[in-house]
Amino acid sequence: MRIGVLGTGMVGQAIATKLVALGHEVRMGSRSADNENAAKWTGEAGPDASHGTFADAAGFGELLFNCTAGLASLDVLRAAGAESLGAKVVVDVSNALDFSDGRPPRVGLGNADSIGEQLQREFPDARVVKTLNTVNCEVMVDPSKVPGAHDMFVCGNDESAKADVSALLESFGWPASHILDLGDITSARAVEMYVALWLCLRGVAETSYFNIHLVH
Ligand SMILES: NC(=O)c1ccc[n+]([C@@H]2O[C@H](COP(=O)([O-])OP(=O)(O)OC[C@H]3O[C@@H](n4cnc5c(N)ncnc54)[C@H](OP(=O)(O)O)[C@@H]3O)[C@@H](O)[C@H]2O)c1
Repeated sequence: MRIGVLGTGMVGQAIATKLVALGHEVRMGSRSADNENAAKWTGEAGPDASHGTFADAAGFGELLFNCTAGLASLDVLRAAGAESLGAKVVVDVSNALDFSDGRPPRVGLGNADSIGEQLQREFPDARVVKTLNTVNCEVMVDPSKVPGAHDMFVCGNDESAKADVSALLESFGWPASHILDLGDITSARAVEMYVALWLCLRGVAETSYFNIHLVH
């Protein structure tokens, strides 16, 4: 599949690298066509890797990943353009972290909105699926970094989009029985706010390789 990865940070790089390793063609997008991280990644990732602007990557991909700073993601998708997004699946892994008052950051958009919903509202034809934002980026693409059983969440309004994304998650190593469907895109509020707890747990666990396992 041709996949556009919007974002040049550690998450964009981890996901883009995994996708190329799985045999996909990947274009990484940035604000500038010659972003240094993206150029370095392309140089290392081989012939199936390329980079360009957010619009280039969005136009290239049959499916897109949003791996940009959550509070900038709406602007990023606007820069990508509604035409490039079309009715594509947009896998949103972003979190809204506001460091303007220092650390720990303020997390999420409150209990009545989320980045996932913002993106879906602005681009009603695109099929936004929120997932992977509840784990560290190395765990996203290699769940075996956390021992034992643990769970990944998906949510979004389009059932077939969630099925496509679940299949992609399985190819990353997430067992189907540990991919939990939280319902429509409004559940993005919950998984985005969870990151406040993730940050506390990071201090307790003293590692980023941990995750939730639902026991009931
Ligand atoms: N780090 C993790 O393990 C982890 C885990 C779960 C979720 N997340 C979430 O994943 C996302 C990516 O995280 P990250 O650490 O890889 O990178 P990041 O530093 O949060 O974001 C980098 C990307 O955001 C873009 N960006 C930043 N400010 C922008 C602005 N004002 N306008 C347009 N674009 C802007 C950058 O564009 P340029 O390419 O042009 O610089 C870059 O592509 C974030 O939402 C983060 O919260 C991270």
